[in-house]
Amino acid sequence: MRRLFPDPADDVTVRECYDVDRPAPDGRPWVALCMVAGLDGSTVVSGTSRGLSNATDASVLLTMRELVDVVLVGAGTVRAEGYGPPRTPGLRIAVVSRSADLDFDQPLWQSGRATLVTTLDAPDVPVPTVRAGHGVIDLAAALSRLDARVVQCEGGGTLNGLLAGADLIDELNFTLSPHITGGHGPRVTVGAPDVMHRMRLAHVLEEDGFLYTRYVRA
Ligand SMILES: NC(=O)c1ccc[n+]([C@@H]2O[C@H](COP(=O)([O-])OP(=O)(O)OC[C@H]3O[C@@H](n4cnc5c(N)ncnc54)[C@H](OP(=O)(O)O)[C@@H]3O)[C@@H](O)[C@H]2O)c1
Repeated sequence: MRRLFPDPADDVTVRECYDVDRPAPDGRPWVALCMVAGLDGSTVVSGTSRGLSNATDASVLLTMRELVDVVLVGAGTVRAEGYGPPRTPGLRIAVVSRSADLDFDQPLWQSGRATLVTTLDAPDVPVPTVRAGHGVIDLAAALSRLDARVVQCEGGGTLNGLLAGADLIDELNFTLSPHITGGHGPRVTVGAPDVMHRMRLAHVLEEDGFLYTRYVRA
């Protein structure tokens, strides 16, 4: 993989490019969002992100998992992509859901490494829970109670939209997949109000026509 920006270099590793300092803002963890999209903007092909991704993109996601304390993921993604227990030692998974309609017999929940993040008025559930907000989740309050320094958000678009609306995205690790997909697939954020959060380009890597970009809060 080559680095195009900054400091062009012909042979860099995912680890050296993503293992960087991530200072937690006051009162909550640093939030790094990790997403892949095709050239015409879709983040989903045939129901999941798999068709857009490749081994190096997966390596970015998995390397980041080694650098964070908690993975935050939406219930829609857990259902679509079949999340299991984390393989990274010590990593915890926090699943954002409003309905709390999840199969708590699944290995993810039985592993003891998963927490449900939901609203104060959501139904009772048989797993560890962080509750914040009535009707709509208060993600800033929920994040501050995850006992984490760095959180990787793995989507999907609806959860990302909630984070964008609350100005909680400190970093976006965005892979541009060299495919035109058509269809009506969702964007990186779905349902957020109009916002203009300026991000700064931190790096661009290239391999096999895929661009691996990293943006941080400006
Ligand atoms: N390209 C990529 O990198 C990438 C990454 C991740 C996912 N994806 C794809 O994205 C799709 C899933 O995304 P999604 O947008 O449907 O779902 P999602 O963002 O994964 O999950 C959102 C969940 O949050 C809950 N929610 C929604 N609004 C809420 C609110 N106001 N307050 C509290 N909770 C709320 C809902 O849970 P309940 O339904 O339980 O109420 C909803 O299902 C899948 O197809 C997946 O494959 C793509």
